Amino acid sequence: MRLHVADHPLITHKLTVLRNVKTPSPVFRQLTEELVTLLAYEATRNVRVSPREIQTPVTTTIGVEISDPKPLVVPILRAGLGMLDGMVKLVPTAEVGFLGMVRDHETLEPTTYAERLPDDLSHRQCFVLDPMLATGGSLGAAIDFLFDRGAVDVTAVCLLGAPEGVDFIEKHTAGKNVTLVLGALDEKLNEKGYIVPGLGDAGDRLYGSA
Ligand code: PRP
Ligand code: URA
Repeated sequence: MRLHVADHPLITHKLTVLRNVKTPSPVFRQLTEELVTLLAYEATRNVRVSPREIQTPVTTTIGVEISDPKPLVVPILRAGLGMLDGMVKLVPTAEVGFLGMVRDHETLEPTTYAERLPDDLSHRQCFVLDPMLATGGSLGAAIDFLFDRGAVDVTAVCLLGAPEGVDFIEKHTAGKNVTLVLGALDEKLNEKGYIVPGLGDAGDRLYGSA
């Protein structure tokens, strides 16, 4: 697994506002979108492209275009949905699939309640979106879905990660082509499985039920 933790003052600034308990849902949603666009720049560094000849007003030249099959972007519902617009703004030709997962508050085990992915992901590059990587159970299960269908590489974009979740994903995906892009690597998980210092419950903060 390759790990990239963002190191840019604009990302840290936006994350600081996001973490603040006083930040209201509309601002939280806007910042989430902006952060994903910034992280997507790094996450798509190895997106596959093919040569393409075009005509400029002056001459012909060879550029590149995103290759077929197009990348698949998979937000993990609910909170990952808040990251979708920021990602497809940068990669508008991507296909989008969905996974709905919720983790049990006591056991922290994820359950999959919705799945709308192409049956065949052979040769596909996939980008999973979830703001929070806590124990890693949800992201690990999402990555399994994609490799089981033939995906060749998976990049996960998370706003915050805990060391426990990073370690879990590293072991869980050993030998697979996985990249993890984090806005920040936080300190730890608390006894309730929340990221510390974190930002609380991302789904509640995005969708106003906090
Ligand atoms: C949150 C978050 C991740 C998961 C992370 O979702 O968005 O999907 O928890 O925890 P884990 O790494 O320990 O699996 P939640 O289950 O709260 O659902 P929601 O997005 O519907 O709020
Ligand atoms: N899910 C969240 O939304 N927040 C956390 O801190 C951990 C899991």
